[in-house]
Amino acid sequence: MKLTRSDFPQGFLFGAATAAYQIEGSSYGGAGSTHWDTFAKGPGNVVRAEDGAVACDHYHRMDADLDLLAEAGMDAYRFSTSWARVLPEGRGRVNQEGLDFYDRLVDGCLARGLKPFQTLYHWEMPSALADLGGWTNPDVADWMADYAEVITKRIGDRVHSIATINESWCVAYLSHFLGHHAPGLRDIRAAARAMHHVNKAHGRTMTRLRDLGMQNCGIVLNFEATEAASDSAADAHAAATQDATHNRWFIEAITKGTYPAEALAGFGPHMPQNWQDDMAEISQPIDFLGVNYYTRNLVAADDAATWPSTKPVIGPLEKTQMGWEIYPEGLRWTLTRLSRDYVGDLPVFVTENGMAWPDAVGEEDTVRIDFIDRHIEAMHDAISEGVNLQGFFYWSLLDNYEWAFGYEKRFGLIHVDFDTLDRTPKASYHALKSAIAPRKNDT
Ligand code: FCB
Repeated sequence: MKLTRSDFPQGFLFGAATAAYQIEGSSYGGAGSTHWDTFAKGPGNVVRAEDGAVACDHYHRMDADLDLLAEAGMDAYRFSTSWARVLPEGRGRVNQEGLDFYDRLVDGCLARGLKPFQTLYHWEMPSALADLGGWTNPDVADWMADYAEVITKRIGDRVHSIATINESWCVAYLSHFLGHHAPGLRDIRAAARAMHHVNKAHGRTMTRLRDLGMQNCGIVLNFEATEAASDSAADAHAAATQDATHNRWFIEAITKGTYPAEALAGFGPHMPQNWQDDMAEISQPIDFLGVNYYTRNLVAADDAATWPSTKPVIGPLEKTQMGWEIYPEGLRWTLTRLSRDYVGDLPVFVTENGMAWPDAVGEEDTVRIDFIDRHIEAMHDAISEGVNLQGFFYWSLLDNYEWAFGYEKRFGLIHVDFDTLDRTPKASYHALKSAIAPRKNDT
């Protein structure tokens, strides 16, 4: 790789990310059912109807996985704690075995010199709360804050940072309007409610974390470089609408207490009553922003379609196994825009960036190495342009359960054989390890 640790500011953190449902194995350790366990059983929702019951069996292999992070010379590990592992019915009864697991995980990170970056909600809504409407129910804000309190009282003294939500857009829009993820709704009223309640839950959880004396609290949002597919005014309008619903809705609510007019044009009539009253709590200060970035999105107008009357256009750039264009410039653009328009000097972390490829053991992994190299360069450029970027987490440590795509899409630095569950570091693991090896003057 062209750049190494020495090219980054002192203290810049390199790590890898995972999420509970994608690696742990939801059938182990007394975890409750979540909406992903049941969504996976719906016809056509997930490739081969695969679910996270076993996943990477990280629940039983946690120590070996943490060893792999440490052996790569990582500084930090981003993981999520599963709500349903902590509270199997989402509220009430606590699963002590689940708390013990996260206790061991955090101690295991610290013992290996890895800073634990926790995410509270990476998509597995407990089924008992899904029964009550999940993200469409305004009470979700208090349910989530209560869960945050239970887990924080156990591990909050040792985690380095806490993110409330992972990718609010996916939680709300992708899952309640496009129907691609659990709970698989395609309903504008449900979507508008989820779009607001996910922010409300973030705000309510921030309040609770502050009450518990927690610092280093923030949120992880996903951004795409949204561009019009042509110079036409209609496509420019389509891109602006998409930018508003995807990139601006959440960060504007959190940093300014407002929603973009282009998005309210569709969601406004379906919003929960008195949503304006929640905006002050939603826009309370955060300590960091996590940015997940994968690709760009070319958008065209689709007049035949209902609001937002947009359609994606397949671009000309080289694509990953997901069919996503490789576009590192978009990461630099996203980071500088966020700093300029929204977060100023607030610490920012790239909490996810990576790519899927149909890897087999022993391959050269050149596309992924080049992908990482170019995105690290984009981050370096953003820092030169004044962005207070403090760390980068590759998605993902392991090949894992890629949601609606099942186990087919391989994002890992480490290959997982899903029959034997054997782990084999890929060439990209070794390349990143060399690039982030300690600076000469640090050793
Ligand atoms: C992000 C998710 C993560 C993973 C990657 C590929 O949207 O946060 O869980 O699925 O995409």
